[in-house]
Amino acid sequence: MSTSAQTAQVLLRCVGCGAVTPVDESGLNCAVCGDLLEVLFPLPGLELPDAAALRSLWLRRRTSPLAQDQSGVWRFREMLPPLGEGCAPITLREGNTPLYELSLCARIAGVQQVFAKHQGMNPTGSFKDTGMTVAASFARKDGFRWVACASTGNTSASMAAYAARGGMKSLVLIPEGKISWSKLSQALEYGAVTCQVKTDFDGCMKILSEIVRRMPIYLLNSINPFRLEGQKTVAFELMEQFDWQPPDHVIVPGGNLGNSSALGKAFGEMKDLGLISGLPKLSVIQAEGANALVRTVREKGGKELVSVHAETLATAIRIGNPASWKKAVRVLEASGGTVEQVSEVEIALAKAEIGADGIGCEPASAVTLAGLKKLVKQGFVKANESVVLVLTGHLLKDPDFTLKFHRGDLFAGTPHEKEAAVLAPRQRAPIVLEASVDAVLKTLEAAEKQS
Ligand code: F0G
Repeated sequence: MSTSAQTAQVLLRCVGCGAVTPVDESGLNCAVCGDLLEVLFPLPGLELPDAAALRSLWLRRRTSPLAQDQSGVWRFREMLPPLGEGCAPITLREGNTPLYELSLCARIAGVQQVFAKHQGMNPTGSFKDTGMTVAASFARKDGFRWVACASTGNTSASMAAYAARGGMKSLVLIPEGKISWSKLSQALEYGAVTCQVKTDFDGCMKILSEIVRRMPIYLLNSINPFRLEGQKTVAFELMEQFDWQPPDHVIVPGGNLGNSSALGKAFGEMKDLGLISGLPKLSVIQAEGANALVRTVREKGGKELVSVHAETLATAIRIGNPASWKKAVRVLEASGGTVEQVSEVEIALAKAEIGADGIGCEPASAVTLAGLKKLVKQGFVKANESVVLVLTGHLLKDPDFTLKFHRGDLFAGTPHEKEAAVLAPRQRAPIVLEASVDAVLKTLEAAEKQS
């Protein structure tokens, strides 16, 4: 992956057999058993300040004029693999995302406090930016001209932006017709060579794995361990926002399972360093139609992957063969979290409920609230416990879904049509009127009567 002396001290560990290799002797998979790799932390011989010193250093950087301090990722660079002296990161000032309290959603779910860590507020509108700034910076440092990813949309949008900022070319493989045009338009605007391939995400991934074996192209999917290092910083930022008192539960959507793996790694590292005293329970929610992790845990005890043919309107998580399943299972076990699945209608309803709290998100993010409601009913989450939902993408990432929802078209003519009747109270179809004051006033009166 790298031949630079500056990264020579970075070590990668295999999640399967545990073999440790220097980064400059590694590919993206373990040379011994072929499994995925993760960055070893802390690096042997690298002295870290104590927890109190780290906290105040990170806080001080928030007022710094330097680009890498203004980045909500590189601000925590003591926890990241070192890029090396004189090597500037490619940054769009990612991270620094808000933590919102969702009071309506808390009432609906039946818990006292629900927070949203809104990763959709990143520069390209999704959590992918936090990982991309790190992995793209390593790609440039290692002299790559081309970077590439297979994507359900958000990774490609993010990669294309960071490649453009870093002066690299990017290749995107996306499943034809199965990603939101809003995400597709981002990749085009940032200049990526964008291929709509006649297959699904898993098929795109297969083709790309072969391409990067044949060509000097740097793979920026989340099997790249540097991506996950950047995505860890969400957890650091969250703990800073919570004054280093972990919440009881953190709930994330699960697709390729890189994000849950990254967050789990981050919480573990913070605990080891004494930055937090305990781990929040980290739970992963999937769409029923893309439930590989749920089935892996329930049917195989987390020991063997159950792949599925994925189908869901939450296209971001339409993934049947998640690469990081082993890492995610380990995180569930270490934190005492759980897995759950939610239906298409439950996702749509939860998305509108988050919207009604004044915070929009894309469908994949809404599985978190839908899952929380189930976990409360099951007694896994107690009414007096604090919960953080990680909202992974912005509302405007998938406007088609939202418009169809409000027009009542989302499930029309599908087997979900009957069940979708529960969505009616949340639907707000646009109202076409004659151009008159009276017409608007009448509409206003009718709305007032309804509320
Ligand atoms: N939420 C959103 C909005 C996503 O875009 C993704 C993944 C996930 C959740 C799931 O995260 O894969 O780390 O478990 N999107 C990828 C993409 C696969 O290509 O944009 P994960």
